[in-house]
Order: sequence, then C-alpha cells, then structure tokens
Amino acid sequence: MEDILSKLHYVLKEVEEFQADSKDKLERFKSVFIGRKGVVTELFEQMKEVAPEHRKELGQQLNRLKNFAEDRYKSLVDQVSELTESKSVSLSQDLTLPTIPENLGSVHPLTQVRWQIEEIFERMGFNISEGREIEDDWHNFSALNFPPDHPARDMQDTFFIEKNPDILLRTHTSTIQVRVMETQAPPIRTLCIGRVFRNEAISARAHCIFHQIEGLYVDRNVGFADLKQTLLHFVKELFGKNTKIRLRPSYFPFTEPSAELDISCLICKGEGCNMCKHTGWVEIGGTGMVDPNVLKSSGIDPVEFTGFAFGMGLERITNLKYQIRDLRLFTENDVRFLRQFATLS
Ligand code: DAH
Repeated sequence: MEDILSKLHYVLKEVEEFQADSKDKLERFKSVFIGRKGVVTELFEQMKEVAPEHRKELGQQLNRLKNFAEDRYKSLVDQVSELTESKSVSLSQDLTLPTIPENLGSVHPLTQVRWQIEEIFERMGFNISEGREIEDDWHNFSALNFPPDHPARDMQDTFFIEKNPDILLRTHTSTIQVRVMETQAPPIRTLCIGRVFRNEAISARAHCIFHQIEGLYVDRNVGFADLKQTLLHFVKELFGKNTKIRLRPSYFPFTEPSAELDISCLICKGEGCNMCKHTGWVEIGGTGMVDPNVLKSSGIDPVEFTGFAFGMGLERITNLKYQIRDLRLFTENDVRFLRQFATLS
C-alpha cells in the first residue's frame, strides 16, 4: 500500500508540472499519463495487490488522479493551440509594410541655446557650475556687496521663504559666483547657470521664473580688455561674426566699474527698427570688474587677484535669436511652438 501511494504522489506531481509547447509534447502527455498503457492505468492494475480494506480509499485517490490528468490534458491542449494561433497571425502580417511613424520628442529651445552658450565658453576654458535655488541673504545679497537696507536690494523683487535670518529664492545666479569663490582657489573660469525667481506679474515680457547665465573669470592680472574681448568673441560665435558689442556705463553693487552689454540689432543690423526701438542696439546683460569687496567676502585676496563677471537672461538671448515675442511660450509646452525647434523629425 505504501509503495503504491508514493508512486501515486509522484505521478500527481509529474502531471502537475508537465509543460507542453507543441503537439508532440501533448501526444507524449497523453500516452504517458492517460493512455491505455499509461501509468495511471498501470496503477489501477496494481490495486489487486492491495489488501481489500484499503482498496476503496485507494480507488478514490486513483480516480482523482485520473480526473486531474484529464483536466490537465485539456488545459495543455488549449495552451498549445493559443501558441500556434498567435504564430500563424504574425506570419500572416505583411512585414514589408512601412511602420507607423513614432512621435519623437525634441530638446527645448532654451536648452538648445544653453548648450550652444556652454560650448562656446567651454572652448575658452570655462567650466560649468550650479548652485542652489533656495539661498540665504549672504549669498544672494550681502557677499555681493549689497549693504543692509541698501535700495539696490529693491532692484530685485524677492520671494522670501523665511525672514530673520532671511531664506529666499535666489533672484540671480550671482549667488553661484560667491559659492565658487568660497570653495575654489583662482584661477577660476566658470559659467554659472540656473533658474532664478522674482516676484513679478507674468506677462509677455516678464516672468517670475527664468534662467540666467553668469560668467566669472578670476586670476592675476585680469583686466577690462579681457572682459571686452571675451564678450565680443562670445557674441560673434552665438549671433554671427558681424555682430558688434557696446558697453554702456551702469551700476551693480558687485562690480566696479559696471556696464550694460548691448549687441547690434540682429534684425536691422544697426540701421534702426521696431525691435531695437530705432537705436540699432539691444541690451543682453550686465557686466563689470568684480568689486574687491566681493573677492574679499568670498575669501580671495583682492590685492593679488582681479576678475570680471557678466550675467544675462537665457530667455532674452533665445528670444533675440529666434525673434520670439512672448516669454510665456517657453513654459506653456504648446507642441505647435516646440515643434518649430525640433532637431529630429
Ligand atoms: N546679477 C545681475 C542681475 O540679475 C546681472 C549681472 C550683472 C551679473 C553684472 C553679473 C554682472 O555678474 O557682472 O541683474
């Protein structure tokens, strides 16, 4: 009895685990388990050798095995026919038909221009630095020579997160200059790029979130001629070799002397048009020699080192390059707008 029961359990397991992916395997299953010469029939025959008082129970168990094997066979038949059907469907397809075109995404115009600018400066030996969007008063104002209560702080409408001590969303990427100078020794040549935030009403010409690109060069004997030549080279590379620059005296707390950077109008080439308000020039950013107080605040000796810096808005540059008239288009994600800048199609 023990012997036949363990055989029965063994066969049950075999039936359960049998896999079939072809008609041949199905045939095999049939002949091994449920055929007239199969193992289940064999087990039934062995019943004769078992003591009569155990026969009833064994008979029930063998019947269960027989039913189980038959059910398993049916489900294997279904599985195999599904497999062969799906194969025949794929063979009936016309493999020479052209595929349905996929809609490919593309790089946002701001990112494209950002990459172009990065590449131009990388060729001049600049690296890329990023800072943090949530800043303290020191990196956004104090280290940049904005005295407390100085009206220049009002030039930038700030989003404050906490007051006393002030925690805020950075209003410019000049914060990154400070962080770089605090942690690296000259020579420094870096581009500081990122999102900045100002508490302004959103319109075609202003947004509360935009991007700035800031350059910083600190070394021995860096002078105003280096500043001018670097910016001229950059502008010619980005906007075309006939573009001219003009530096207009200006004021920033963190540079001395300071200047506004203009380029010759890309539309009228300096003749005067609506775009440049008939002046022939359009402003693209601010620049100047790093104020010695800023070098000192960031731990660099202003007697030994000098530097220049510049800052510009990425949206403004992109607008000029592509003559986009409404800033809001950059953040609306309207595919009709974005598609015009697709590099792949
Ligand atoms: N941080 C200035 C702004 O947001 C831009 C700027 C002007 C940056 C002059 C500079 C600079 O590094 O030298 O308006």
